[in-house]
Amino acid sequence: MILSVANQKGGVAKTTSTLAIASRLKQEGYKVLAIDLDPQGNLSESVDAKQIEVPTVYELLKEEITVREAIQSLNFFDIIPSNIMLAGAEQELSATGKEYRLKEALESISIEYDYIIIDTPPSLGILTVNAFTASDEILIPTTPGIFAVNGIEQLNNTIKNVKKYCNQNLKINGILVTRFNPRANINKSIKELTENLAEHIGAKVYNSYIRNSVVIEESQANKINLFENYKSATVTSDYSNFINEFLGEQL
Ligand SMILES: Nc1ncnc2c1ncn2[C@@H]1O[C@H](COP(=O)(O)OP(=O)(O)OP(=O)(O)O)[C@@H](O)[C@H]1O
Ligand SMILES: [Mg+2]
Repeated sequence: MILSVANQKGGVAKTTSTLAIASRLKQEGYKVLAIDLDPQGNLSESVDAKQIEVPTVYELLKEEITVREAIQSLNFFDIIPSNIMLAGAEQELSATGKEYRLKEALESISIEYDYIIIDTPPSLGILTVNAFTASDEILIPTTPGIFAVNGIEQLNNTIKNVKKYCNQNLKINGILVTRFNPRANINKSIKELTENLAEHIGAKVYNSYIRNSVVIEESQANKINLFENYKSATVTSDYSNFINEFLGEQL
């Protein structure tokens, strides 16, 4: 399965969720490739991937290298890294077929992986469109308190356009509530608000929430795997529960 983790809103835990999902699925024995499709390169940094003077997703989208040249095999999982050069992709990709570059690049290797998880930037530009065109499904992380209907409708319009022109089988996998603060957020109303939002786009909301925890920034800064070194943290079990729910949906 190829899964995009997307929301044009910044800071909703797209990268954190991509990192957790890819780490956990790898630990469960699946073959996992993560793709950092964000010029910020946060995912690459969190797993200590090489980003300078190595082939990245930027060269891959420009068809200057093969996909195998771009893959780094790390302890976390395999990854195709990015760096700030990717910010130029928007202008530099030529018009014809520019939406299909990632899909085409992945064709020769997708059979080798059980899961390819794509971290996307906080925008709905050509990079996110490339991710959606290459994907089977989209996971939408969202934080409590930013339940803007127009935001989700914008995202849904992009999804609809990609379905219409580039990838008719694309599906929304679900909405994941992240950075939940039990003291500040009232559980029931969050659930209701999220479900209202989900109805707008015909998606389901995961029952598992991801709570706020200092462990997240700490593990990312130190490039440490949550599921190996923070096994007893509440946020680790939140992500484990979510991934069990995610895997259960696929049976
Ligand atoms: N459950 C959590 N508890 C505490 N901090 C979190 C949690 N999830 C994410 N964060 C922190 O919130 C910030 C934003 O998270 P993250 O980078 O994953 O969001 P993003 O959606 O990828 O952002 P961007 O849109 O910039 O790519 C980061 O500093 C991250 O460490
Ligand atoms: Mg990010």
